[in-house]
Amino acid sequence: MFDRPGRGSVGASSAAAVLVALDFGEGDYAESLAEIQLLVSSAGVTACAVVHGKRDRPDSALYAGKGKVDQIAESVAAHQAQLVIFNHDLSPVQERNLEKRLNCRVIDRTSLILDIFAQRARSHEGKLQVELAQLDHLATRLVRGWTHLERQTGGVGMRGPGETQLETDRRLLGKRVKVLKEKLVKVAAQRAVQRRSRSRAHMLSVSLVGYTNAGKSTLFNRLTRADVYAADQLFATLDTTTRKLHTASAAGVVLSDTVGFIRRLPHTLVAAFRATLEETVRADILLHVVDASSPDRDAQIEAVNVVLKEIGADAIPQLLVYNKIDLTAFVAQVESDECGNIARAWISAQSGQGLDLLRNALGQLAGAAFDSSRVAVA
Ligand code: GTP
Repeated sequence: MFDRPGRGSVGASSAAAVLVALDFGEGDYAESLAEIQLLVSSAGVTACAVVHGKRDRPDSALYAGKGKVDQIAESVAAHQAQLVIFNHDLSPVQERNLEKRLNCRVIDRTSLILDIFAQRARSHEGKLQVELAQLDHLATRLVRGWTHLERQTGGVGMRGPGETQLETDRRLLGKRVKVLKEKLVKVAAQRAVQRRSRSRAHMLSVSLVGYTNAGKSTLFNRLTRADVYAADQLFATLDTTTRKLHTASAAGVVLSDTVGFIRRLPHTLVAAFRATLEETVRADILLHVVDASSPDRDAQIEAVNVVLKEIGADAIPQLLVYNKIDLTAFVAQVESDECGNIARAWISAQSGQGLDLLRNALGQLAGAAFDSSRVAVA
């Protein structure tokens, strides 16, 4: 993996970090601050202080104002922090200027999320996708004197005739990106074969989507009895896992767990994970899992719908699954819309409340889809 020397995973040494969150009056400051704090702890980093601020727009050179940067520097010194994390996207120039001024490593929101993704990717495909996204992010940050890729990729003889260090780095990076893209095309082809055989076998394909930490993996495990990693961390699941679900209906259901969505999911990631999310795009039904106990649940539903639109999955019928009702006053139930279609379910994946209702509802949906396909064939 290409990386700048000394710039490995942020969580590798459980670093202490100063967080910087600036309010631009967009209205979601508190939620976004809570989210970055969760992201930071998911990355294995300890947030030792938060520097707040208010601005109309970012400063082009330093993102924050000079006085604010001084305040960050004081906080870094007071807490002996090794890292400053901005809850914003920084340009390469801003990142560099800040690192010079603060004399410590500075990363932005996208880098932090990429780092968590790198720590979590398990499958071959997931790892390839994360590396591609990281290289994409790194490519914009390649500047003279900053990278020493040759050292990590064999050294002697790597530099072409008349090439500067920067040109060599760019060439090596381009080469690696090409290899990764080729590998991903192969994996996508294998996936397509699996998908075709499922659709021939009359399987209703259902994808779990939802805000990160909503409880998708827990629900997936409960419904399929699989052993997928569920943790109180963001993005515990990165790789799509697909399993058969048994229902009372004759028609089968295949359920896929997918990566959690988040507000302002970096574009490089949406692009990199398009292949993983393909499972979602091609699903017959989406189970949109919502943390019913979160006061922020409506905004989270909206954030998920924004990403679904971005990946072209907004026209797929959704069944909203309000999870974690054990933490609320809601009772387990399944509700239909005005046309009689099952539209909402209230469950607890952890306690098991409402799971049978949900399983039956999925069986009914699969049965209905199977019947209509038989009619279509006849
Ligand atoms: P990402 O991988 O980040 O997208 O998360 P996820 O949506 O797959 O969530 P996951 O299943 O990992 O659950 C997140 C946390 O919520 C874990 O600590 C679960 O134990 C907890 N959780 C899941 N379902 C329930 C529930 O019904 N009730 C309660 N109280 N906690 C739950």
